Amino acid sequence: MLDTKKIDENSMLYWYPKIKNLNIPQPKTEIVEVNESIFDLLDGKLPRNIDEIKRVARKIGYPLFMRTDHLSGKHEWKYTCYVESEKDLMPHISNLVESSAMAGIVGLPINALVFRELLKLDYVFKAFNGLPIARERRVFIKDGNVQCIHAYWVEDAIRFWEAKEPEGWREKLRELNTVTDEEVEILTEYAEIVGREVKGYWSVDFAKSGEKWYLIDMAKGEDSWHPPCEYKLTRDERGA
Ligand SMILES: Nc1ncnc2c1ncn2[C@@H]1O[C@H](COP(=O)(O)OP(=O)(O)OP(=O)(O)O)[C@@H](O)[C@H]1O
Ligand SMILES: [Mg+2]
Repeated sequence: MLDTKKIDENSMLYWYPKIKNLNIPQPKTEIVEVNESIFDLLDGKLPRNIDEIKRVARKIGYPLFMRTDHLSGKHEWKYTCYVESEKDLMPHISNLVESSAMAGIVGLPINALVFRELLKLDYVFKAFNGLPIARERRVFIKDGNVQCIHAYWVEDAIRFWEAKEPEGWREKLRELNTVTDEEVEILTEYAEIVGREVKGYWSVDFAKSGEKWYLIDMAKGEDSWHPPCEYKLTRDERGA
């Protein structure tokens, strides 16, 4: 498939095989390729390998985390990436199809569905449509070296769509977003292991579950949201 379809570097089909066997905690993951175009899927056509999809999802076990090779629809959490049981599988796939069609200016393809062990994140409150807000960090690496480490959830990005604002959430978030020296040490070590496997500029996302930091996502640095920082590229540098 990699030969016949154009897979860009932001796709999990590109980066996941490069990092999956590294000695870094990662959620148990199963990937099923999808061969229908986003237009066909939007038209209501089901992936022809739906039985395989169901079988692979059962291998991970419910509840599970589901995403495409490009995105998770995380802001719609309980309608997209959080899948409680098999009866939610098809409606959530349809919602991911919609999120993909609406992403960016021209939408994003779905080359694969990814089923992952649902990590127990130590969340301090839930936002958007039930998304747990927990300790997560985004590390930027360039040519193998760590450039900067950021808290992933910034205050300005948080919205409460369906519930009233949880009491004291700003203070809780501030505590969550305090990057400690201990974290910097372990995340630098992990990100540099990743940096030996991929060339150029990348963002690498980590989420904390229990005592461990899990590598959960990656993308090209120039395509990744980046909080203000001396290393953040300008629009011109990103070619935007
Ligand atoms: N295995 C998992 N278990 C539980 N929660 C998860 C898991 N993987 C991701 N998450 C949560 O869902 C969010 C989105 O996941 P992920 O990074 O895979 O999707 P994305 O749409 O590509 O995000 P981004 O916009 O950062 O690129 C994460 O920030 C984290 O809060
Ligand atoms: Mg991503």
